[in-house]
Amino acid sequence: MQKILKQVEKTRVFDILIIGSGAAGNSLALQLPSDMSIGLISKTELHEGSTYYAQGGISAVFSKPDSIELHVEDTMKAGAGLCRANIVKAVANDSKEIIKWLLDQGVKFTKNNVGANNKLHLTKEGGHTHPRIVHADDKTGKVIQDSLISGVKKKNNIELYTHHVAIDLITKDQKDKNVKRCVGCYILNKKNNHIDIFKAKFIVLATGGANKVYLYTSNPDTSSGDGIAMAYRAGCNISNMEFMQFHPTCLYHHRAKSFLISESLRGEGGKLLLPNGEQFMHKYDSRGVLAPRDIVARAIDNEMKIHGLEYVLLDISHKKNLFIKERFPNIYKKCLEFNIDITKSAIPVVPATHYTCGGIDIDINARTNIKNLYAIGEVAHSGLHGANRMASNSLLECIFFSRKVLKDIERFKNEDFEDVHKDFVDNTTKSISEEVIIKHSWKEIRTLMWNYVGIVRTNERLLKAKNRISIYKKEIEECFSKNKISCDLIELRNLIYIAEIIITSALTRKESRGLHYNVDFPYTNKIAEDTVINKKIKNDLKLYREK
Ligand code: FAD
Ligand code: SIN
Repeated sequence: MQKILKQVEKTRVFDILIIGSGAAGNSLALQLPSDMSIGLISKTELHEGSTYYAQGGISAVFSKPDSIELHVEDTMKAGAGLCRANIVKAVANDSKEIIKWLLDQGVKFTKNNVGANNKLHLTKEGGHTHPRIVHADDKTGKVIQDSLISGVKKKNNIELYTHHVAIDLITKDQKDKNVKRCVGCYILNKKNNHIDIFKAKFIVLATGGANKVYLYTSNPDTSSGDGIAMAYRAGCNISNMEFMQFHPTCLYHHRAKSFLISESLRGEGGKLLLPNGEQFMHKYDSRGVLAPRDIVARAIDNEMKIHGLEYVLLDISHKKNLFIKERFPNIYKKCLEFNIDITKSAIPVVPATHYTCGGIDIDINARTNIKNLYAIGEVAHSGLHGANRMASNSLLECIFFSRKVLKDIERFKNEDFEDVHKDFVDNTTKSISEEVIIKHSWKEIRTLMWNYVGIVRTNERLLKAKNRISIYKKEIEECFSKNKISCDLIELRNLIYIAEIIITSALTRKESRGLHYNVDFPYTNKIAEDTVINKKIKNDLKLYREK
């Protein structure tokens, strides 16, 4: 960050700065007391981010025969030994209360129409042994975002900064040399290309996942891993980044940009088929199409390789027309745009990256290892998902940890602001002359990650990817120090950091577990351990202790 000062225009001061306006950031902003000044930052429009596109729903335990214990058991089983039991229990325990809070915010979830009992309709998804997914048809995320955003806009103590991009965190060493405190962030205003310093007593990263690092993803463009990369550069511990989740069923169509076909379609009876009509999931897992995602995605990948296919089929056309149209209006409409009528024919699907299970390591209060810096939502690694997230546990996690931050900062509310040192020297000169170089590098990195660090990995491919990324890293740091900062440049730099962290984590794990499958280490170790990366520890770190 040596270069930034000349571009710095203003300093703004808040009690709390929330970076990201998805389910995590918005729910926190809404709950904070009205005597706190809040800055809420969003890279594009307020609604844009993964939350808006969530389809399936949000898991919660309502009534017998389901129970909190069963929700915990299913989550831990899907997580393949790496979930933190205390976190899983706490989240499952609060799930009903969280749904109630969302209903209070005006979220209109789908109700049962059978028998007009006015209860919430619960569906099933992979890994869940009981129907426990609360949803708003197949557009749960949009309905949640619309309600949260309308609440946020009504609060006078929240200042909204859309089209503002966080570049890097500002930290200060404390008296105890091992402790750093976060005091603010550099923010690029995309509207005028100025960089401002936003200072706050507390900074919360709610920037979502890093799935754009892969060529094919169900995620919107905002998911470029900015929060994780910034936190890493600032000195945070980053955990379990080798566990990138591939959603088994994204629409295969050259214009569809990996549009998601919700797992709830399988929850309502959808079948996975080869082009000759044969079902195959029972060969891989007794739970069939509702096995956890890592298993279904690997099975599809394997079938595609064995038969030389470009896609497999997902078929719900055996269900009644009206049911399909009412239960999946969003998917029905989208597929029709591509001339696929899901009431009549099967949908061509392929796996694509969907969710970042690892992230900034946090404790039960959402604290990172940097003082006054919190991380919530997909950007964080809380230990809820372990080596493979169970469907519909993510939105729940976003809101659970926003409630934790709320409680935690109450304790420190009267802390003083710390001054931000402005001891930077600016070398900023010109805008990058060839934007095309950025676009080209972006595509190369995403292709490299897809081909070398995908669903099935090998040591050789991981090492090759590592070497190539190290060259990109040198180039980007030089480019970043010489050119005027733009959103594209910020995102490219972050993607390169994320790629490096994923590859390093994957090389560090000498086993196969959950979403990480390495042909050279096909077995699963008896003892499950997290992979923790910190920039102070050099690249070839041996954090993983072999047993
Ligand atoms: P996001 O909603 O991604 O929001 C991130 C925010 O950070 C955005 O406002 C973005 O602009 C901002 N941001 C990012 N970088 C910067 C920066 N540098 N500066 C400023 N702002 C920045 N989960 C479920 O539980 N149930 C589901 O049914 C479900 N379905 C899904 C379907 C799809 C298609 C996808 C993509 C995900 C789905 N998920 C689902 C996962 C879930 O939606 C996400 O994990 C969750 O919404 C993440 O919320 P978030 O608030 O952490 O991040
Ligand atoms: C889906 O609807 O399949 C996505 C659910 C999730 O990612 O939790």
